Amino acid sequence: MTAMTTVRLHANGLSGGETVPRLGQGTWQMAEKPALRKAEIAALRLGIELGMTLIDTAEMYASGGAEELTAEAIAGRRDDLFLVSKVLPSNSSRKGTVTACERSLRRLRTDRIDLYLLHWRGSPPLSETLDAFEELQHAGKIRYWGVSNLDVNDMQELAQDPRGKTCTTNQVLYNLTRRGIEFDLLPWQRKQQQPIMAYSPIEQGRLAGHKGLREIAQRLNATPAQVALAWLLRQDNVISIPKATAEQHVRENHAALTLKLGADDLAALDRLFPPPKHAQPLEMI
Ligand SMILES: NC(=O)c1ccc[n+]([C@@H]2O[C@H](COP(=O)([O-])OP(=O)(O)OC[C@H]3O[C@@H](n4cnc5c(N)ncnc54)[C@H](OP(=O)(O)O)[C@@H]3O)[C@@H](O)[C@H]2O)c1
Repeated sequence: MTAMTTVRLHANGLSGGETVPRLGQGTWQMAEKPALRKAEIAALRLGIELGMTLIDTAEMYASGGAEELTAEAIAGRRDDLFLVSKVLPSNSSRKGTVTACERSLRRLRTDRIDLYLLHWRGSPPLSETLDAFEELQHAGKIRYWGVSNLDVNDMQELAQDPRGKTCTTNQVLYNLTRRGIEFDLLPWQRKQQQPIMAYSPIEQGRLAGHKGLREIAQRLNATPAQVALAWLLRQDNVISIPKATAEQHVRENHAALTLKLGADDLAALDRLFPPPKHAQPLEMI
């Protein structure tokens, strides 16, 4: 089987950050349609078998249903997994974050979340959410914490708090059609040795049907989705979390780990999806 490559969770100030799979699995829009439930659980289990043992979920997804589905998919395998979940901004006060995490733990049927993220910035001050993350870490309920959908100015503000140094990642929209972060956020995070977690890496499936990308993929004997993933996977501080329900999609995504893009391929991709020439606000889905 293809060996999974990893990304180091540096978290400045934390000694000896551990490594996590570079390719994980998303769960947004799972647990929404009962008819798909069996296939969704089977897809996550297949992904785990293939080594995609980082699973991204959130209290928001299917109003907690995706966490419950994740619990079912990982039953008996908890120790092999790196579980990521998120608190909604509307719950991100100190008390709200702690109780939201406890609800997530119950739905996930586990005693700990490996990485707990603030889903996007809300009205409670970041310092309050950090108080809660600290409390949850001390109680052993979360192992690492991070953020999602924060732009450079928010990340800089976070870095002003001494605890900001232990922020493990920022999960943001990043794929061939959403390259804005390459101008500022990605280099900034690289400097802090904080990996990016790229969500919607296949642009919610739209890149799979992209005509120009299909032409490049054909030359590489690959699928467009695989090229989109390989383009992200080649970057040392990027973790990708595609969501797939179809067995074929799970297998294809895993096989993207072996697809190597050469200088000519990267130049063709740059022509098709030009890198940013100026700063732009962080996009969100
Ligand atoms: N932090 C945030 O605000 C945020 C926002 C969005 C997403 N996320 C996270 O990121 C994960 C991934 O993003 P996403 O679900 O929005 O989009 P995505 O992973 O880019 O795309 C998912 C779609 O692509 C299809 N697909 C997967 N593999 C494929 C392949 N090899 N060929 C063709 N189509 C393929 C899936 O179809 P099937 O399911 O039918 O296989 C699904 O329709 C989410 O599930 C969630 O965990 C986080």
